[in-house]
Amino acid sequence: MVSVRLKKLLILVGVILTFLFGSLYHFSNSRSDYTIPEGLKSYFYTSDDRLRLLTNSGLDISGSGKNDIKFKKPQNAQFNKDFQKTFSGIFKLMDSFKDQIPTLTHEMEANQNRGFWSETELRKFVKVDEETIAKVTKIHEEIVHNIQPLRKTARDLYTNKDGIVLIGGDKFSWLSLLSIKSIRSFGTRLPIEMIIPTEEEYEYDLCEKLLPSLNAKCILLPEVLGEDLMNTMSFSGYQYKSLAILASSFNNLLLLDSDNVLLTDPERYFKNEPFKSTGMVTWPDYWERTTSPHFYDILGVSISNLQIRDGKWPLKTPILQTNKDKVKLHNLKGAIPDLSSESGQLLIRKSDHIGTLLLSLFYNVYGPNFFYKLISQGESGEGDKDTFVAGAFKMDEKYYQVSSEIQSFGYFDDGNFQGVSMGQRDPIEDYNLFQKVKNAHPHLKEYKFADEFDTRNASIFTIHANFPKLNPYQQFTEKKLLNSKGEEVRLYGDVYNFIRHLETDGEPYDFEMIQFKRMKFLLCELNISLKYFNNISRKELCTFIDSHIDFMVKHPVSEL
Ligand SMILES: *[C@@H]1O[C@H](CO)[C@@H](O)[C@H](O)[C@H]1NC(C)=O
Ligand SMILES: *[C@@H]1O[C@H](CO)[C@@H](O)[C@H](O)[C@H]1NC(C)=O
Ligand SMILES: *[C@@H]1O[C@H](CO)[C@@H](O)[C@H](O)[C@H]1NC(C)=O
Repeated sequence: MVSVRLKKLLILVGVILTFLFGSLYHFSNSRSDYTIPEGLKSYFYTSDDRLRLLTNSGLDISGSGKNDIKFKKPQNAQFNKDFQKTFSGIFKLMDSFKDQIPTLTHEMEANQNRGFWSETELRKFVKVDEETIAKVTKIHEEIVHNIQPLRKTARDLYTNKDGIVLIGGDKFSWLSLLSIKSIRSFGTRLPIEMIIPTEEEYEYDLCEKLLPSLNAKCILLPEVLGEDLMNTMSFSGYQYKSLAILASSFNNLLLLDSDNVLLTDPERYFKNEPFKSTGMVTWPDYWERTTSPHFYDILGVSISNLQIRDGKWPLKTPILQTNKDKVKLHNLKGAIPDLSSESGQLLIRKSDHIGTLLLSLFYNVYGPNFFYKLISQGESGEGDKDTFVAGAFKMDEKYYQVSSEIQSFGYFDDGNFQGVSMGQRDPIEDYNLFQKVKNAHPHLKEYKFADEFDTRNASIFTIHANFPKLNPYQQFTEKKLLNSKGEEVRLYGDVYNFIRHLETDGEPYDFEMIQFKRMKFLLCELNISLKYFNNISRKELCTFIDSHIDFMVKHPVSEL
């Protein structure tokens, strides 16, 4: 008797639970259908910007205090399985060379000795013997050989179309969240994924509440890689952007550094040139390439005597150079064109850049010891930044590097310029300008890039706020908002001069004020919980944020 009753009860509970989970499931699915009100796109910042897509998303975003909740189940088990099946072989092969690739040392650093980068000059920095070159050339060949078939088999892995990817974890979760808040504030509908490098960095409130309310989600890297790979590979991968790109579910994506803030909706970049025909867009750094001739030896690439460029500008009529000392190595046919790249943002289509991503992953796995040393030779910013272009170059996959120049922002402290961030320029405007100048004088033997391409004309579309970062905890504890005399300063005042096109109704777009108001909204009004801020009283942090907002109100950007 009892057991029949119990059965009935269990069935009833089952029905209720099914119903409950069904509606929960429906709810979580309908998140991505959240529509952004029409007309929003024309506004970059208004007084209700603070609410956009967080509190009016219909989701409960109050702090749960449940940050010790562990990650439960992968959201996309089938994709993870396919990913592991596709890539585990090549990842393990890369890992297998860890005892064979040596550590190189610079004899000099390129950033201490900037000069005329001829082949002879570029040979002076890293000394590497013939035997090592021969050994690594053979390993490199084997890697490339094993990547080849994957360019085809991995092509259909990514079924989600366009999106934005940022890397989170630790303090980067905060910076990425702030960047995502900016992305949503001007209304782009693109989905967003935040890659979380390790299980320990997964945060319940961030991943299950805050990001969903911004139509974004966490992708836990260990879930995508799987236990087998996590346990067998000695590179855990969290510092490798190419791994994050591969782990995201999007086929076309804009990768943004967590401290990089967009100023415009990037949706159109996916649909237009230069991305449309190339599938990869990179942005320039300040510096000329300082890649060692040994790197080209390892790649099996020969560089000819034909000069086909002058810096970043192509020559219409190539010049045969008999004396290699009189020409820069990277102006010659067969070398990678100037300038060096900056990887704070990258547009890439995975279906035709699998080779680029896997080879650049290889260069990164052995980057700090070996490949970075050959690719940059101690030039400023040595790191992963040039590995994407190097991968595309070797695998013969297309890319377009923006010719418009990087823009420095900062303030003057006692007469000295203090750089705080960098701006990069709009790729579509850059491309149109490039085509215009290239086609301008069909009867002339030379292009007139140097005269006719204004490298500061294209609009700034991103502010890479890296020095210091938009991290109020660090700004507060390390007194980053004070100059050498101890006076409070605006860090980003001069940004205004470059983004006047963003003025709304005659109101200046005050980048720093907007960022601080967003900090205040997230940390002080919504009281969001993030592990990174556990060490400081929220009250203290908010007093700091408020006082800088007060300072900025008293020193408007238009009066600087
Ligand atoms: C860019 O060039 C166009 C056409 O020459 C000009 O009208 C415009 O003012 C320029 N913009 C900037 C920011 O230099
Ligand atoms: C903010 O959230 C924390 C939990 O994450 C809670 O302990 C605290 O009381 C909240 N503060 C306010 C002012 O709501
Ligand atoms: C917070 O404090 C702990 C213990 O002192 C320390 O290990 C940790 O690095 C601190 N976190 C931050 C973000 O400073």
